Amino acid sequence: MPTRTLRLGADQVSQAAQILLGGGTVAIPTETVYGLGADAASDAAVRKVFEAKGRPPGHPLIVHLASADQLTLWATPTDPRVQDLAEAFWPGPLTLILPRTDRVTSLAVGGRATVGIRVPSHPVASAILEAFGGGLAAPSANRFGHVSPTTAEHVLADLDGRIDAVVDGGSTTLGIESTILELAGGDPTLLRPGGVSTSEIEAVLGAPVVDGSSTESRAAGMLPSHYAPRAEVEIVSSVDPGRLRPDVAVVGPVSVQHSLSWWLPEDATGYAEGLYRAFRAADASGAQLILVVPPERGDLLDAVMDRLTKASTTSSQPQSDLRFKP
Ligand code: TXA
Ligand code: MG
Repeated sequence: MPTRTLRLGADQVSQAAQILLGGGTVAIPTETVYGLGADAASDAAVRKVFEAKGRPPGHPLIVHLASADQLTLWATPTDPRVQDLAEAFWPGPLTLILPRTDRVTSLAVGGRATVGIRVPSHPVASAILEAFGGGLAAPSANRFGHVSPTTAEHVLADLDGRIDAVVDGGSTTLGIESTILELAGGDPTLLRPGGVSTSEIEAVLGAPVVDGSSTESRAAGMLPSHYAPRAEVEIVSSVDPGRLRPDVAVVGPVSVQHSLSWWLPEDATGYAEGLYRAFRAADASGAQLILVVPPERGDLLDAVMDRLTKASTTSSQPQSDLRFKP
């Protein structure tokens, strides 16, 4: 594992690509969150990603491409609707789970017959993918189970000394991960709500998508407790002033007289942009409990509620062991 992490500027694209071509790990900005990239065709490179994140093997990674033109190198899109979705949403925050080819290393897909593919729209991600030329396996650039990073500083807070480089492209614009839709033979199935809303997808398909929250694909890779700050998270509809102790933080569209509070907009799109930053700031303040008031409306409401629910899953089941501890 590297002991020194190189900090690159957004214009140091060819340097980032060189490290990736040499089998290294580079965290890059995307429009959703920062991803930790490595050559998806190299077993050794992908292994470094699992090690740096502390991610258990078996949790498949998304492969990022510069353009939809490269899709058939990595996947066999048997369903004609893949073309419609790619045209409508790529480049952008939609990941499609498709039957895979042999090019992607088995480690990257957790031994599955499918692969998740996404063409990101962030200009820095696009430039690096273009210069690299291949597919980048890139999970969110955080320690396993922790909050996804929306700035280069967040990446370093989790992974400094564990990865070769981070490219600083400023804050990500969406602030929440991509939508994951499976189209691998059956009906289009939503595995994770995200940056593209279900209604936008349904408008393109002209048919409803199936909720995949309890399917096998989802169960194997997505644990109930995830996206979690260190502090405990409790979802509340309003904040009881009697609960505002010095180690309790408040996050959401509420104004309270309390030092540990992070305001977020009522609309889920603006809320998503600031949510992970607020979680990390609350953790840094030493809060032990975060009272979260959810957003009220907006296209990304389902996606935000999904993340809040996962962040607030506290139980004595084994998954609680996976919550991030420094
Ligand atoms: O916005 C995003 O999607 C970000 C940026 C960096 O692109 N990436 C991201 O990756 O959130 P990650 O690894 O943190 O989450 C990807 C999710 C995992 O929960 C994994 O289980 C699921 O995608 N996934 C990937 N490949 C899959 C597959 N073949 N079948 C089922 N689920 C898959
Ligand atoms: Mg992640």
